[in-house]
Amino acid sequence: MATSLRSRAGLRAARGSRGSAAFSGLLWLLALALFVAPFLRSADNIGSYEGDFGRDVVKDNDEDKIDLPFGVDVANYEKEFGAGLAKHIADASEQYFGLESPWLRDSGAVEFLRIPSGQQNFQIHCIGCHGEIGDGGGPAARYLNPRPRNFRKGLYKFTSTDAASRPQRRDLFQTITRGLAGSSMPEFRLVNEEKRWDLVEYVRWLSMKGEFEQVMLDDAYENEELPDAKEIAEIVIKRWHPAHLRSIFPGVNETPYDAASVERGRAYFNDVAKGSCYSCHGAGGKGDGPTAGDYEDDWGYPIRPRDLTAGTFRAGSEGVDLYRTIAAGIKGTPMGSFEGALKPEEIWDLVHFIQSLSRKEPLK
Ligand code: HEC
Ligand code: HEC
Repeated sequence: MATSLRSRAGLRAARGSRGSAAFSGLLWLLALALFVAPFLRSADNIGSYEGDFGRDVVKDNDEDKIDLPFGVDVANYEKEFGAGLAKHIADASEQYFGLESPWLRDSGAVEFLRIPSGQQNFQIHCIGCHGEIGDGGGPAARYLNPRPRNFRKGLYKFTSTDAASRPQRRDLFQTITRGLAGSSMPEFRLVNEEKRWDLVEYVRWLSMKGEFEQVMLDDAYENEELPDAKEIAEIVIKRWHPAHLRSIFPGVNETPYDAASVERGRAYFNDVAKGSCYSCHGAGGKGDGPTAGDYEDDWGYPIRPRDLTAGTFRAGSEGVDLYRTIAAGIKGTPMGSFEGALKPEEIWDLVHFIQSLSRKEPLK
């Protein structure tokens, strides 16, 4: 208010001569153009889909490889194949994954009672990085490496499930509780436990809805026509329904952490037939194997094998944590699942070898 009064006074004073009036007119135009320009650009970026306003366009990496913001991708489709997709997806998303959806309620895949509190806490604690719709496009995201997760792909790195399965609730609960060491994902131990479960449920719901919309879009591009929403909704809900998730558990209890186990682990680590860990992580586990520089993750960013001597493990450093990481792999990254390829006892030996690289206590 104060500034606009002052400007108006300035304008009155400027009316003194035609020349200065024209000059100030020009200045005003310039100011207006500068003010409006960013909105014009972002309106263009957002396209016609309404759910996507939180997302920044990523400019600082190889653009071809990075996911386009959803709204832009939908708008591009409409430019090429005609209008209608944005509305089709938005309507179907409401029908199948909206919080009023009887279909979603009957599916039993979401605990609805947890959603309001989950949403509220997500807005307080998470959107700065993960963005309002969970696409990993919060305002802080562009400054972070690794990037905050885009939940809309349905792809999570740290899970106890097999390659085809979405995460269990407890996997997400663990991530939210402990954070991911060595990344900017904070721990939320101080948020009370019930609220953390509410957050888990909200993240799951955002993820299902986002995955549904994404698969609809991918399907449209593939077939160049409006996709069958019901069929896709059923596929997505099946991926997420707890009854369909297959978990990986250690096949045998932890074997003793001793020098013999560590030495066996070291041998497996460097054995092509036992998972070839060294090819990525290097013989000494320092993250400098022969192929270390060759990879990018499924989100399109370069990724390096971890330096295992640093003792920083995102999914935890306890035996069971490392077992889970090796057996289930890290989805969306070149670190695959070794369940089946290695015997449970061999995995425990690898766990012990890895722990020995950063543990200070002497071995028995
Ligand atoms: C300061 C930024 C930041 C904040 C705030 C933040 N996160 Fe994250 N989050 C990240 C980053 C970065 C990653 C990805 C780490 C990686 O790829 O290893 C991540 C990953 C995740 C993952 C995926 C883990 C996996 O297995 O792939 C979940 C789930 C998650 N965050 C939930 C949350 C929730 C819920 C909140 C709020 C309570 C939150 N995050 C707040 C930065 C943040
Ligand atoms: C094709 C390359 C590749 C191979 C082979 C590989 N890894 Fe990895 N590994 C990675 C990458 C990349 C990461 C980092 C993932 C990330 O940053 O999220 C990683 C991370 C890890 C981590 C860290 C997990 C955490 O919680 O932070 C452990 C432990 C690990 N690998 C163990 C192994 C073991 C044991 C083997 C062999 C059985 C192995 N890796 C084989 C690429 C590989």
